[in-house]
Amino acid sequence: AVERTLSIIKPDAVAGNLIGKIYSRFEDQGLRIVAAKMMHLSREQAGAFYAVHRERPFYNELVDFMTSGPVMVQVLEGEDAINRNRVIMGATNPGEAAPGTIRADFAETVDENAVHGSDGPETAKTEIEFFFKSDELCPRTR
Ligand code: CMP
Repeated sequence: AVERTLSIIKPDAVAGNLIGKIYSRFEDQGLRIVAAKMMHLSREQAGAFYAVHRERPFYNELVDFMTSGPVMVQVLEGEDAINRNRVIMGATNPGEAAPGTIRADFAETVDENAVHGSDGPETAKTEIEFFFKSDELCPRTR
């Protein structure tokens, strides 16, 4: 089915001037960008976005990192978009990511792993609504 998923290009990859290369991975592998914005997240925004991880030992470092510079936030649309994006990204830990994936090619550590993507339909809906109003989504008309 056609789905939408929330994607973030994290501060390490924005700093590395990799936005275009990462967008090409999405577009070349069947995903359309239907909404996008660059933001520098506040601690409140990053903490709320990752609230599900607040008891994890890496939470404070995660918030530090995600607020360390601007991010690119986008909604990707396409057939099986949620899982397709997860395949394009590769494993959370770049050391375990398959060759040719974004994290294998552009990231070094699990803490600074270039991209985030929603992990399922419920989180996709919640995460898209976290960043975008429904009238900010631009479905294709041609
Ligand atoms: P992300 O998909 O953005 O969701 C939470 C992030 O926490 C994850 O990617 C990693 O970058 C980061 N993280 C750091 N340590 C871990 C860990 N041990 N397990 C999962 N995620 C981690």
